[in-house]
Amino acid sequence: KAYFVGLDVGGTTMKAAVVDSDGLAGPAVVSDTESYKGQDHGLATMCDTIRKAVEAANKKLADIAAIGVATPGTMDIKAGLILDPPNLKPWRDVPVRDHILNHFKIPTAFQNDANAAAFGEYWVGAGRTAKSMVLFTLGTGVGGGIIINDYVLEGEHSHGGEIGHLKIEMTNGRRCGCGRLGCLEAYASATAVVKRCVEALEKDSGHSVLRQLLNKKESELTSRAIFTAAEQGDTLAQTIVEDTAYYLAVGAINMMHTIDPDAIVFAGGMIAAGESFLNRIRYHICELAFPVPASKTEVRYALLGSDAGFIGAAACARQLWLKSK
Ligand code: BGC
Ligand code: NA
Ligand code: ZN
Repeated sequence: KAYFVGLDVGGTTMKAAVVDSDGLAGPAVVSDTESYKGQDHGLATMCDTIRKAVEAANKKLADIAAIGVATPGTMDIKAGLILDPPNLKPWRDVPVRDHILNHFKIPTAFQNDANAAAFGEYWVGAGRTAKSMVLFTLGTGVGGGIIINDYVLEGEHSHGGEIGHLKIEMTNGRRCGCGRLGCLEAYASATAVVKRCVEALEKDSGHSVLRQLLNKKESELTSRAIFTAAEQGDTLAQTIVEDTAYYLAVGAINMMHTIDPDAIVFAGGMIAAGESFLNRIRYHICELAFPVPASKTEVRYALLGSDAGFIGAAACARQLWLKSK
């Protein structure tokens, strides 16, 4: 049996664990990403988090065959560099892979966070039986990962699978975290769902349980609260949720008509909304796409939750290790 460390770096926290060659993860270690912004770009925290994950699994560094690190794009995957991520500001041109490689002297794989999450789901999660899949991650941003026959589609310039920035609105589009207009992320990320909801509450003076949440001293209006309210019959929340399902379906059909994968998988806090939300996405997919693939493509939720990133980062480490053997 071989052991790998997967590290998933997000905008507010980073998470690492030892993962074995069967995809079984040891205890996860979490550190704060935010507080290190602007100092050393979290490189010391990354190394520290990796070391702690190894300790938490009762392993030694010498037991680790390879390390995998996943970070939000934009990035240069082959060069191991973070370039200019919309949701990890002000990190810019940070040589993540080589820093970790030089620090531990252990082969290190580097991957986009959503590509890694997709590879994790493909390995031991929702894509286990799929030959090809597309993952949408719905968090602070919208990430994407495309896996075809065990191959992570990075593209020639590391921007393959940047499907959060698919254009879904050509006129008067919302401003995305990337600075451009009309991206899927500007409509369907958890942050965007809350923003759309706040705007709707400002325009509409009718009753909504969400108004109380928004007016709390520290707003408690989260995307999860919006989905829960929709389930409980709040009409304003239902409109937001229905529009979100539509936007995601637009993203999904564009991927179906490009890749035609076995499975389209959705991940992120929003999936707590349950089967009814998924059914609305399926409904719009059937309305918008060719009958085939629409009727044949599996549309489902991810299975690994917030572990997908580090499990997927470890899957990338494993692939690096397999290639070197
Ligand atoms: C970035 C992606 C990333 C996603 C989730 C997007 O804004 O462009 O590279 O995967 O956020 O973190
Ligand atoms: Na991606
Ligand atoms: Zn964008």
